[in-house]
Amino acid sequence: MPAIVIVGAQWGDEGKGKATDLLGSRVDYVVKFNGGNNAGHTVVIGDEKYALHLLPSGILTPGCTPVIGNGVVIDLGVLFEEIDGLEARGVDTSRLVVSANAHVITEYHRTLDKVTERFLGSRRIGTTGRGIGPTYGDKMNRLGIRVQDLFDDKILQQKVEGALELKNQLLTKVYNRRSLSAESVVEELAQYRDRLRPMVADTSLLLNDALKQGDTVLLEAGQATLLDVDHGTYPFVTSSSATAGGACTGSGIPPTAVDRVIGIVKAYATRVGEGPFPTELFDDDGERLRRNGGEFGTTTGRPRRCGWYDAPVARYAARINGVTDFVLTKLDVLTGWERIPVCVAYDVDGERVEEMPVTQTGFHHAKPIYEYFDGWQEDISAARSLHDLPKNAQNYVAALEAMSGSRISAIGVGPDRDETIVLHDLLESD
Ligand code: GDP
Ligand code: IMO
Ligand code: MG
Repeated sequence: MPAIVIVGAQWGDEGKGKATDLLGSRVDYVVKFNGGNNAGHTVVIGDEKYALHLLPSGILTPGCTPVIGNGVVIDLGVLFEEIDGLEARGVDTSRLVVSANAHVITEYHRTLDKVTERFLGSRRIGTTGRGIGPTYGDKMNRLGIRVQDLFDDKILQQKVEGALELKNQLLTKVYNRRSLSAESVVEELAQYRDRLRPMVADTSLLLNDALKQGDTVLLEAGQATLLDVDHGTYPFVTSSSATAGGACTGSGIPPTAVDRVIGIVKAYATRVGEGPFPTELFDDDGERLRRNGGEFGTTTGRPRRCGWYDAPVARYAARINGVTDFVLTKLDVLTGWERIPVCVAYDVDGERVEEMPVTQTGFHHAKPIYEYFDGWQEDISAARSLHDLPKNAQNYVAALEAMSGSRISAIGVGPDRDETIVLHDLLESD
């Protein structure tokens, strides 16, 4: 059986958590392959609502093995807080497996994330302040601390001391903060050692063996295509590879094993933090999308910036990820509008552009060119087939499918697991 990848097609918060949970009972492994506790996935199951940050959404499905892959950065305090929170609610987390090669977030990463943002002032990224960028920076600079280092006292001490030689210069001389002692950092990490040890494994070997014996592996992205460090709206991105290619490097599963790529795309658009967003609304419509869609960050509580659906962005995501199927989420949020604008192309300095502009400046200058679709007034949350949707909602979905570069295989009409219209089986190739 194959590996299947789930990615965000916009700027995050498309509903990846719900989609992963939906498929959880039919897959054997769910792997988080990038990011860390900058992610926030809300999963609603009946009356229960779960907010997940570090744990893969498959943790909520009995029998499914959740895996934190090598491409993830782990704040161990947050990991165990999340595990304890779920256990207290009766969720079994005992099958969790953590890659020995994942990097750990320490106090100096969290501090540097916050002070760098303050230092940047108007040029800030609007990060989640969780230490994500500095931890990936250290990984690339070969100064990082990995999960496996926790189990070798000498190595851990050496690596923390090595990293702090540089960090303390930065903290004290550039940012005017106090320096940190290696002992305090080692102590912070070592306190989790015993709880962590039984979870740690060679997750690449585990997953490849699982694939060989016919198991299904679902690779779940944090963040999204436009926040990807290579393919996103750089520098207003996160520091990891959130696209389908990242699923391979972040898990140790080869590209040849990936059978399907499911792109999660909202029926409108949102963004958290700074950076260009051509269809952003600053009027009552934006406020109404935020209110109707509950668009407030799961991680930081920040109000999400809201705007209309952007087809060039979806097409771009289809291309970069090789999307085989889209899941269109939150269609119900659009109920009640007379007409719904959709961005079909951009006007960049007087020129019509159908694709994502090549340069950062081009995208900053991009003005949306809209087409308008008739809206619908009926509550659609009980719809379970395309024919249950009002004609205008069907037309809206058909138009997005035609413009977005791949077929739409499921439609979200509410936050609950059941509030979904399935058009094509997401796990079976047909
Ligand atoms: P993720 O980060 O991609 O997993 O998405 P988030 O969980 O941050 O944000 C998506 C939000 O929309 C969550 O609160 C979900 O419960 C909710 N949601 C997901 N799908 C739907 C849908 O089809 N309709 C509505 N109304 N809410 C949805
Ligand atoms: P999920 O997985 C939306 C944004 C931050 C900021 C930028 C960099 O829930 O879709 P970072 O802390 O990662 O260095 O911040 O990325 N960001 C997200 N926006 N959803 C997310 O995750 C995000 N994770 C990071 O707001 O603009
Ligand atoms: Mg989210």
